[in-house]
Amino acid sequence: MTDENWHVGATGFDPETISETGNRYLIGNGYMGYRGTLGEYTAAQQVALNLAGVYDQHGTAWREPVNAPNPLYITLTAGKTPLSVLETTPVSHQVGLDLRRAVFARTTSFAVDAGTVTVTASRFVSGADRTLGAARYTVSSTVATPVTLTCGIDEQVWDINGPHLVDTTHYAITGGLVVTAVTGELERQVAVWQRQFLSGSDAAGTLQTTAHGLQMSYPLALTPGVPVTLTVLFGVGVDDDRAAMVRTLSSATVASYDAWLAAHVAAWTKYWAASDVRLDGPDADQLALRYSIYQLLAVAPHDAVAQSIPARGLSGQTYKGAVFWDTEMFMLPFFAATDAATARSLVNYRIQGLAGAKAKAAAYGFRGAFYAWESQEHGLDACSDYNVTDVFTKRPMRTYFKDKQVHISGAVALAIWRTAQWLADDTLLTEGGAAVILACAEFYLDYARQGLLRPSVSIPDVIGPDEYHERVTDNAYTNKVVAATWQCALDVLAHLDAPQREAALAAVGGEDFVALVHTALAHLRRPVEQDGVLEQFAGYFKLEDCSVADVRSRLLDPREYWGGAYGVAAQTQVLKQADVVMMLEEFPQDYSLATHRANYDYYEPRTEHGSSLSWSMYAIEAARLGKGDAALEFFRKTATVDLTGQSKQWAGDIYIGGTHPAANAGAWLVALRGFAGMTTTANRLAFAPHLPADWNAMAFEVAYRNKRFAVRVTHDGATVQELEEA
Ligand code: BGC
Repeated sequence: MTDENWHVGATGFDPETISETGNRYLIGNGYMGYRGTLGEYTAAQQVALNLAGVYDQHGTAWREPVNAPNPLYITLTAGKTPLSVLETTPVSHQVGLDLRRAVFARTTSFAVDAGTVTVTASRFVSGADRTLGAARYTVSSTVATPVTLTCGIDEQVWDINGPHLVDTTHYAITGGLVVTAVTGELERQVAVWQRQFLSGSDAAGTLQTTAHGLQMSYPLALTPGVPVTLTVLFGVGVDDDRAAMVRTLSSATVASYDAWLAAHVAAWTKYWAASDVRLDGPDADQLALRYSIYQLLAVAPHDAVAQSIPARGLSGQTYKGAVFWDTEMFMLPFFAATDAATARSLVNYRIQGLAGAKAKAAAYGFRGAFYAWESQEHGLDACSDYNVTDVFTKRPMRTYFKDKQVHISGAVALAIWRTAQWLADDTLLTEGGAAVILACAEFYLDYARQGLLRPSVSIPDVIGPDEYHERVTDNAYTNKVVAATWQCALDVLAHLDAPQREAALAAVGGEDFVALVHTALAHLRRPVEQDGVLEQFAGYFKLEDCSVADVRSRLLDPREYWGGAYGVAAQTQVLKQADVVMMLEEFPQDYSLATHRANYDYYEPRTEHGSSLSWSMYAIEAARLGKGDAALEFFRKTATVDLTGQSKQWAGDIYIGGTHPAANAGAWLVALRGFAGMTTTANRLAFAPHLPADWNAMAFEVAYRNKRFAVRVTHDGATVQELEEA
């Protein structure tokens, strides 16, 4: 097994890739995400210090997460020449991420007079204390030359629908700066502190006020062989988190940098010990898989009690910083197997969102819990009625994601049940989870209300995972998730002791609920089957049968939205993402191998893979079907989505760029469920490997039901060894 492949990076500067590299080199600690931007960048280059779970609405625009003022705004000039990649072509430029230590670094050289000035900088946001971060910025020169170094907290924050911060104030403290502000809507208090320590020069800093806020400016007389280093320690606190952060920053010294870095690296060493997957195979695959895991570790709410992960991680404000089913269906299995505390936090977030989900159901006239399609704090649904802007008319288009993507409730219910089983932790059920599962089951009973009167129970008017076909009836995936949720409700009831069962049932109408669930389950419509192919929804087979290429050729504008009322795909069998295939992937044991094969073969050519959620589902199915090459190709797509930056950036005229934690988690799912063939049946963890031909072996640890196992997988089979500590 190789020990390399812990570094991603690039050489050379290309202004066209600023947005993409901002995503690729993200650092984060679950409390904040800091995009992979450079010290000299500002809002125009999408600098963002994104705060997890802190949302704000400005005017009537979409609510979105708040970006804090940037404590790492650092510029350098030589005379009148800005030593910034944006204004002066560098002699050389490198950026990169050390995945093992979660440290971002850049090295850039600029020509000055007869010599070269080089900037070497690195930064991290602490894995040990979530409110802290630090950077080191070293300037060296091959000739004696004067330069001016400035460092401040940039108050010009990048926002999509802002500004979100009001009452911004700034002031200087001993060797540092402070910016405080309040969010406009909920008046949350945000504080950014920064301490600066200069070494290698005795230049005195002067304070200046600029359009970006306060800055310290240092006139440096560089001489060859004497590098000057600015160490910046910063803290960001919201509401109650401010006090401890301020105390730490106030007493910090330049030596704190090394102490903070050591604590940070120790935290990441622990994360990696639990989650790394080592390949004996192509280096590029190893790196992509590790990078995918890195992205998950960077956005995980490690120490939080009830926080979740947005669909675009902590990379900015796209998708409203909202939590989708991505978390439950894709990310949660990774955390259950590698980091139980994070898994519990993700589950608790949904448990805390129950009141919001009940309110949403009630607003539509239903009982039970209808979870938010785009969930913000307290389960609030941030999804707009008009979620896509038409590229031609520039008008918002009515979409029904919020109203009709009812499979979200099942994703939540099943995830809670599956996580409780995986962690062997009944408290997840008894402390709120059982109530969520029953409320989701109740919602589905009510949603199928009219159907219940008929001999076969139908789930009308929904949107399945394939969002291009809106308001369809009996979507195969949705119906399967509904059935699984009903079954799950019965299983939970059987699992609880008598008083718990009685209390849980009281909230959903008592014993009648049980009878109704049994009837509904027995009569729920199964998909129509044609030559082994399960129809995606009622009437799907009657739609025009054409290829993805045909549909693409009909586009009048590359950013055009394919779905909705007039979308090019809507009247055809072309689908956005895995739908029936996702159902097969999630419930593999319920279908014969022939069914898996027939549906993969039918749906794959008709799938656009227009969502980054799609590839991993196809990869797992391909692996199970022995289609190793296809599996590896899809694995590579999902594992490299944030490395290549080749993902959809637009939905109609709306920017949707950022990182893709569900696709990152998808890479892990493909490795474990697909290539290692991991299953859990009757509380037994088992492996039936389908490694791609290019891979010789794979080794990882996995935690299951309070035990840890070391697993090694080859083409000949798997060895599973129970580890000593729990
Ligand atoms: C996909 C959804 C997904 C969302 C957030 C959409 O494009 O169709 O399934 O939940 O993106 O990732």
